[in-house]
Amino acid sequence: MPISDELRESVRRSLPELADIADETLRNQVVEAWAFALSETEFTSIEQIRGSGNPDTPAMKQGTQAEHLRGVARIALAMADALEQVMGPLGIDRDLLCAAALCHDLGKPFEFSPANQARWRADPAKVGFPSVRHPVYGVHVALSVGLPEAVVHTAGAHSMEGENVERSLENTIVNLADHAFWTVLRRAGGLSENE
Ligand SMILES: [Fe+2]
Ligand SMILES: [Fe+2]
Repeated sequence: MPISDELRESVRRSLPELADIADETLRNQVVEAWAFALSETEFTSIEQIRGSGNPDTPAMKQGTQAEHLRGVARIALAMADALEQVMGPLGIDRDLLCAAALCHDLGKPFEFSPANQARWRADPAKVGFPSVRHPVYGVHVALSVGLPEAVVHTAGAHSMEGENVERSLENTIVNLADHAFWTVLRRAGGLSENE
């Protein structure tokens, strides 16, 4: 599927936190990245992607992958703002932080695609299962649309792949915000444990 204006509009509707990115070029790159990621799959909106951390981990009882991205972006910005209010400036780039948070799971359309899951499950010996996890695929998406290296890094190293590198300041915050999102939601009973 080509990247269409419908997909771009769909991304803008899903992610109102785009408004927190002051730089218009960066904001448009985030939209382009998600539209590109969706265009490579059967998904036409971020909401259609299963609301879980991995394809086989417990899903949110309510809310979708869009709420996950929105939640992580808001937690990340709140964490940065709260710390800086108490400690003074810490050198956090708020625009990059918001873009990185909204883009950290860019590879999920590819990894969560039911068509890809069925193909991989049918013969894991062929290209692996999954062939590429979402952090690595997210790097491909982020680089393809020309997102800044700081956002590419967060897509690639927000999760366990990041244990092999030193995380940037913004990615450290996104990593914690991502973890906080799932951990707090699980404790609050917001995940279906028996699927
Ligand atoms: Fe992730
Ligand atoms: Fe995430």
